[in-house]
Amino acid sequence: MRISAALVAVTFALATSLAVHAEEKRKADFSQSELKAKIDYCKTCHGLQGQGFRGSYPMPRLAGQQPEYLVNQLQAFIERRRNNPVMFNVAHVLSPEMEKALAQQFHDLDPKPLDGISRENLTEGKKIYLEGVVKSDVPPCASCHGDDARGRDAFPRLAGQLHDYVYKKLTNWDKERGQDKNNPDNSAIMQPIAHNLTDAQIRAVATYLSSLE
Ligand code: HEC
Ligand code: HEC
Repeated sequence: MRISAALVAVTFALATSLAVHAEEKRKADFSQSELKAKIDYCKTCHGLQGQGFRGSYPMPRLAGQQPEYLVNQLQAFIERRRNNPVMFNVAHVLSPEMEKALAQQFHDLDPKPLDGISRENLTEGKKIYLEGVVKSDVPPCASCHGDDARGRDAFPRLAGQLHDYVYKKLTNWDKERGQDKNNPDNSAIMQPIAHNLTDAQIRAVATYLSSLE
Protein backbone atom coordinates (compact mmCIF):
# COMPACT_ATOMS: atom_id res chain seq x y z
CA MET A 1 0.00 0.00 0.00
CA ARG A 2 2.79 2.29 1.00
CA ILE A 3 4.42 1.56 -2.37
CA SER A 4 1.46 2.59 -4.47
CA ALA A 5 1.14 5.84 -2.52
CA ALA A 6 4.82 6.39 -3.20
CA LEU A 7 4.33 5.68 -6.88
CA VAL A 8 1.63 8.30 -7.07
CA ALA A 9 4.12 10.72 -5.53
CA VAL A 10 6.69 9.86 -8.20
CA THR A 11 4.20 10.31 -11.01
CA PHE A 12 3.30 13.68 -9.57
CA ALA A 13 6.94 14.70 -9.28
CA LEU A 14 7.48 13.61 -12.89
CA ALA A 15 4.57 15.70 -14.13
CA THR A 16 5.81 18.78 -12.28
CA SER A 17 9.36 18.36 -13.49
CA LEU A 18 8.14 18.16 -17.09
CA ALA A 19 6.23 21.41 -16.68
CA VAL A 20 9.27 23.10 -15.16
CA HIS A 21 11.51 21.90 -17.98
CA ALA A 22 9.15 23.32 -20.59
CA GLU A 23 9.40 26.72 -18.92
CA GLU A 24 13.17 26.52 -18.76
CA LYS A 25 13.51 25.96 -22.47
CA ARG A 26 15.89 28.70 -23.46
CA LYS A 27 19.17 28.86 -25.31
CA ALA A 28 22.16 26.90 -24.02
CA ASP A 29 24.39 29.12 -21.89
CA PHE A 30 27.60 27.28 -22.75
CA SER A 31 29.69 26.44 -25.81
CA GLN A 32 30.41 22.92 -27.13
CA SER A 33 34.01 23.19 -25.94
CA GLU A 34 32.86 24.12 -22.44
CA LEU A 35 30.56 21.08 -22.48
CA LYS A 36 33.41 18.82 -23.59
CA ALA A 37 35.73 20.20 -20.90
CA LYS A 38 33.07 19.52 -18.29
CA ILE A 39 32.53 15.94 -19.49
CA ASP A 40 36.28 15.30 -19.42
CA TYR A 41 36.28 16.56 -15.85
CA CYS A 42 33.43 14.20 -14.84
CA LYS A 43 35.32 11.32 -16.47
CA THR A 44 38.39 11.85 -14.30
CA CYS A 45 36.34 10.28 -11.51
CA HIS A 46 33.53 8.40 -13.27
CA GLY A 47 35.78 6.65 -15.81
CA LEU A 48 36.72 7.44 -19.42
CA GLN A 49 33.55 5.81 -20.73
CA GLY A 50 31.42 6.68 -17.71
CA GLN A 51 31.73 3.04 -16.64
CA GLY A 52 32.58 3.91 -13.02
CA PHE A 53 35.75 3.34 -11.07
CA ARG A 54 36.44 0.63 -8.54
CA GLY A 55 38.52 2.05 -5.69
CA SER A 56 38.41 2.56 -1.94
CA TYR A 57 35.57 5.01 -2.63
CA PRO A 58 33.61 3.57 -5.54
CA MET A 59 32.67 6.03 -8.30
CA PRO A 60 29.28 5.08 -9.72
CA ARG A 61 28.71 4.18 -13.35
CA LEU A 62 26.89 6.98 -15.19
CA ALA A 63 26.91 5.35 -18.65
CA GLY A 64 23.45 4.47 -19.92
CA GLN A 65 21.82 6.10 -16.91
CA GLN A 66 18.40 7.68 -17.35
CA PRO A 67 18.81 11.44 -18.01
CA GLU A 68 15.93 12.37 -15.74
CA TYR A 69 17.41 10.41 -12.82
CA LEU A 70 20.85 11.99 -13.41
CA VAL A 71 19.41 15.51 -13.31
CA ASN A 72 17.38 14.66 -10.20
CA GLN A 73 20.53 13.51 -8.41
CA LEU A 74 22.57 16.57 -9.40
CA GLN A 75 19.75 18.70 -8.03
CA ALA A 76 19.59 16.59 -4.85
CA PHE A 77 23.34 17.11 -4.27
CA ILE A 78 22.98 20.87 -4.79
CA GLU A 79 20.05 21.14 -2.38
CA ARG A 80 21.78 18.77 0.06
CA ARG A 81 18.87 16.36 0.02
CA ARG A 82 21.54 13.88 -0.98
CA ASN A 83 24.58 14.03 1.22
CA ASN A 84 27.94 14.02 -0.58
CA PRO A 85 30.45 16.88 -0.19
CA VAL A 86 32.42 15.98 -3.35
CA MET A 87 29.38 15.99 -5.61
CA PHE A 88 28.00 19.13 -3.94
CA ASN A 89 31.15 20.96 -5.02
CA VAL A 90 30.97 19.51 -8.52
CA ALA A 91 27.25 20.13 -9.06
CA HIS A 92 26.50 23.53 -7.53
CA VAL A 93 28.25 25.41 -10.36
CA LEU A 94 26.23 23.68 -13.12
CA SER A 95 23.40 25.51 -14.87
CA PRO A 96 20.15 23.59 -15.52
CA GLU A 97 21.00 23.51 -19.26
CA MET A 98 24.46 22.11 -18.57
CA GLU A 99 22.98 19.46 -16.24
CA LYS A 100 20.62 18.31 -18.99
CA ALA A 101 23.35 18.24 -21.63
CA LEU A 102 25.69 16.23 -19.38
CA ALA A 103 22.90 13.80 -18.50
CA GLN A 104 22.20 13.14 -22.19
CA GLN A 105 25.90 12.63 -22.94
CA PHE A 106 26.31 10.03 -20.20
CA HIS A 107 23.03 8.35 -21.12
CA ASP A 108 24.37 7.77 -24.64
CA LEU A 109 27.49 5.87 -23.51
CA ASP A 110 27.35 2.08 -23.53
CA PRO A 111 30.53 0.38 -22.22
CA LYS A 112 30.57 -3.16 -20.82
CA PRO A 113 30.06 -3.49 -17.05
CA LEU A 114 33.24 -2.96 -15.06
CA ASP A 115 32.55 -5.66 -12.48
CA GLY A 116 31.33 -9.15 -13.11
CA ILE A 117 34.22 -10.60 -11.13
CA SER A 118 32.40 -12.50 -8.43
CA ARG A 119 29.67 -14.88 -9.57
CA GLU A 120 28.88 -15.84 -5.99
CA ASN A 121 25.20 -15.47 -5.04
CA LEU A 122 24.26 -14.60 -8.59
CA THR A 123 21.24 -16.93 -8.57
CA GLU A 124 19.98 -15.61 -5.24
CA GLY A 125 20.50 -12.03 -6.42
CA LYS A 126 18.54 -12.64 -9.59
CA LYS A 127 15.66 -14.15 -7.61
CA ILE A 128 15.50 -11.13 -5.29
CA TYR A 129 15.62 -8.78 -8.26
CA LEU A 130 12.81 -10.48 -10.15
CA GLU A 131 10.61 -11.71 -7.30
CA GLY A 132 11.41 -9.54 -4.27
CA VAL A 133 11.44 -11.00 -0.75
CA VAL A 134 7.84 -11.71 0.16
CA LYS A 135 8.33 -12.39 3.86
CA SER A 136 10.17 -9.08 4.38
CA ASP A 137 7.72 -7.00 2.33
CA VAL A 138 10.30 -6.28 -0.38
CA PRO A 139 8.64 -5.88 -3.80
CA PRO A 140 10.40 -7.13 -6.94
CA CYS A 141 13.07 -4.61 -7.93
CA ALA A 142 12.10 -5.30 -11.54
CA SER A 143 8.64 -3.79 -10.97
CA CYS A 144 10.23 -0.34 -10.86
CA HIS A 145 13.70 -0.68 -12.36
CA GLY A 146 12.53 -2.86 -15.29
CA ASP A 147 13.11 -6.54 -16.13
CA ASP A 148 16.40 -5.62 -17.82
CA ALA A 149 17.34 -3.21 -14.96
CA ARG A 150 17.76 -0.34 -17.39
CA GLY A 151 15.32 1.93 -15.56
CA ARG A 152 12.97 4.53 -16.99
CA ASP A 153 12.54 8.27 -16.39
CA ALA A 154 13.10 8.88 -12.67
CA PHE A 155 13.70 5.17 -11.99
CA PRO A 156 17.44 4.64 -12.31
CA ARG A 157 19.24 2.09 -14.41
CA LEU A 158 20.97 -0.45 -12.16
CA ALA A 159 22.39 -2.74 -14.87
CA GLY A 160 26.18 -2.70 -14.80
CA GLN A 161 26.36 -0.57 -11.66
CA LEU A 162 29.38 -1.30 -9.46
CA HIS A 163 28.85 -3.86 -6.73
CA ASP A 164 30.60 -1.79 -4.04
CA TYR A 165 28.62 1.32 -4.93
CA VAL A 166 25.23 -0.46 -4.80
CA TYR A 167 26.20 -2.10 -1.51
CA LYS A 168 27.24 1.23 0.02
CA LYS A 169 24.11 3.05 -1.13
CA LEU A 170 21.66 0.39 0.09
CA THR A 171 23.36 0.02 3.50
CA ASN A 172 23.52 3.81 4.06
CA TRP A 173 20.24 4.97 2.54
CA ASP A 174 18.94 6.75 5.66
CA LYS A 175 22.18 8.69 6.16
CA GLU A 176 22.66 9.87 2.58
CA ARG A 177 19.37 10.23 0.75
CA GLY A 178 16.24 12.25 1.54
CA GLN A 179 18.16 14.44 4.03
CA ASP A 180 15.76 17.41 3.89
CA LYS A 181 12.73 16.30 5.86
CA ASN A 182 10.78 19.39 4.73
CA ASN A 183 11.35 18.58 1.09
CA PRO A 184 10.79 14.85 0.59
CA ASP A 185 11.86 13.38 -2.77
CA ASN A 186 11.81 10.12 -4.75
CA SER A 187 14.37 8.60 -2.39
CA ALA A 188 11.50 7.94 0.05
CA ILE A 189 10.32 5.14 -2.25
CA MET A 190 13.54 3.19 -1.74
CA GLN A 191 13.82 3.79 2.01
CA PRO A 192 11.69 0.85 3.27
CA ILE A 193 13.15 -1.42 0.58
CA ALA A 194 16.75 -0.71 1.52
CA HIS A 195 15.82 -1.00 5.20
CA ASN A 196 14.14 -4.41 4.86
CA LEU A 197 16.94 -6.15 2.96
CA THR A 198 19.54 -8.09 4.98
CA ASP A 199 23.24 -7.52 4.44
CA ALA A 200 23.53 -10.87 2.63
CA GLN A 201 20.57 -10.06 0.38
CA ILE A 202 22.08 -6.69 -0.53
CA ARG A 203 25.38 -8.37 -1.46
CA ALA A 204 23.57 -10.93 -3.60
CA VAL A 205 21.43 -8.44 -5.51
CA ALA A 206 24.45 -6.14 -5.98
CA THR A 207 26.41 -9.04 -7.52
CA TYR A 208 23.57 -9.73 -9.91
CA LEU A 209 23.23 -6.07 -10.96
CA SER A 210 26.96 -5.58 -11.49
CA SER A 211 26.95 -8.49 -13.95
CA LEU A 212 24.20 -7.08 -16.21
CA GLU A 213 24.86 -5.23 -19.46
C1 HEC B 1 36.28 14.25 -7.72
C2 HEC B 1 35.51 13.11 -8.22
C3 HEC B 1 34.22 13.39 -8.97
C4 HEC B 1 34.03 14.21 -10.05
C5 HEC B 1 35.03 15.12 -10.75
C6 HEC B 1 32.65 14.03 -10.44
N1 HEC B 1 32.03 13.13 -9.62
FE1 HEC B 1 30.07 12.55 -9.71
N2 HEC B 1 30.34 11.36 -8.07
C7 HEC B 1 31.51 11.21 -7.38
C8 HEC B 1 31.30 10.32 -6.27
C9 HEC B 1 32.33 9.90 -5.25
C10 HEC B 1 29.94 9.92 -6.33
C11 HEC B 1 29.22 8.96 -5.39
C12 HEC B 1 28.51 9.71 -4.33
C13 HEC B 1 27.83 8.76 -3.38
O1 HEC B 1 28.46 7.77 -3.01
O2 HEC B 1 26.67 9.02 -3.04
C14 HEC B 1 29.36 10.59 -7.48
C15 HEC B 1 28.03 10.48 -7.85
C16 HEC B 1 27.47 11.10 -8.95
C17 HEC B 1 26.09 10.96 -9.36
C18 HEC B 1 25.03 10.09 -8.72
C19 HEC B 1 24.99 8.77 -9.48
C20 HEC B 1 23.93 7.82 -9.04
O3 HEC B 1 23.92 6.70 -9.59
O4 HEC B 1 23.10 8.15 -8.20
C21 HEC B 1 25.94 11.73 -10.47
C22 HEC B 1 24.68 11.92 -11.27
C23 HEC B 1 27.22 12.34 -10.76
N3 HEC B 1 28.13 11.94 -9.82
C24 HEC B 1 27.46 13.17 -11.85
C25 HEC B 1 28.68 13.80 -12.10
C26 HEC B 1 28.88 14.73 -13.18
C27 HEC B 1 27.84 15.10 -14.23
C28 HEC B 1 30.17 15.18 -13.07
C29 HEC B 1 30.88 16.22 -13.89
C30 HEC B 1 30.23 17.53 -13.97
C31 HEC B 1 30.76 14.50 -11.93
N4 HEC B 1 29.83 13.68 -11.36
C32 HEC B 1 32.06 14.69 -11.49
C33 HEC B 1 32.73 11.81 -7.69
C34 HEC B 1 32.96 12.71 -8.70
C1 HEC C 1 8.46 1.02 -5.94
C2 HEC C 1 9.53 1.26 -6.89
C3 HEC C 1 10.91 0.68 -6.57
C4 HEC C 1 11.21 -0.64 -6.23
C5 HEC C 1 10.28 -1.81 -6.04
C6 HEC C 1 12.65 -0.67 -6.09
N1 HEC C 1 13.20 0.57 -6.35
FE1 HEC C 1 15.17 1.06 -6.26
N2 HEC C 1 14.72 3.01 -6.67
C7 HEC C 1 13.46 3.50 -6.94
C8 HEC C 1 13.54 4.92 -7.20
C9 HEC C 1 12.40 5.85 -7.56
C10 HEC C 1 14.91 5.27 -7.05
C11 HEC C 1 15.53 6.67 -7.20
C12 HEC C 1 15.47 7.40 -5.88
C13 HEC C 1 15.93 8.84 -5.98
O1 HEC C 1 15.72 9.49 -7.01
O2 HEC C 1 16.50 9.32 -4.99
C14 HEC C 1 15.62 4.05 -6.72
C15 HEC C 1 16.98 3.98 -6.48
C16 HEC C 1 17.69 2.81 -6.25
C17 HEC C 1 19.12 2.73 -6.06
C18 HEC C 1 20.11 3.88 -6.10
C19 HEC C 1 20.72 3.95 -7.47
C20 HEC C 1 21.92 4.85 -7.56
O3 HEC C 1 22.47 4.94 -8.68
O4 HEC C 1 22.33 5.44 -6.56
C21 HEC C 1 19.44 1.41 -5.89
C22 HEC C 1 20.81 0.81 -5.67
C23 HEC C 1 18.19 0.68 -5.94
N3 HEC C 1 17.15 1.55 -6.17
C24 HEC C 1 18.10 -0.70 -5.80
C25 HEC C 1 16.90 -1.41 -5.72
C26 HEC C 1 16.80 -2.82 -5.43
C27 HEC C 1 18.00 -3.75 -5.23
C28 HEC C 1 15.47 -3.14 -5.38
C29 HEC C 1 14.82 -4.47 -5.06
C30 HEC C 1 15.25 -5.13 -3.82
C31 HEC C 1 14.74 -1.91 -5.67
N4 HEC C 1 15.63 -0.89 -5.88
C32 HEC C 1 13.36 -1.81 -5.74
C33 HEC C 1 12.29 2.75 -6.98
C34 HEC C 1 12.17 1.42 -6.64
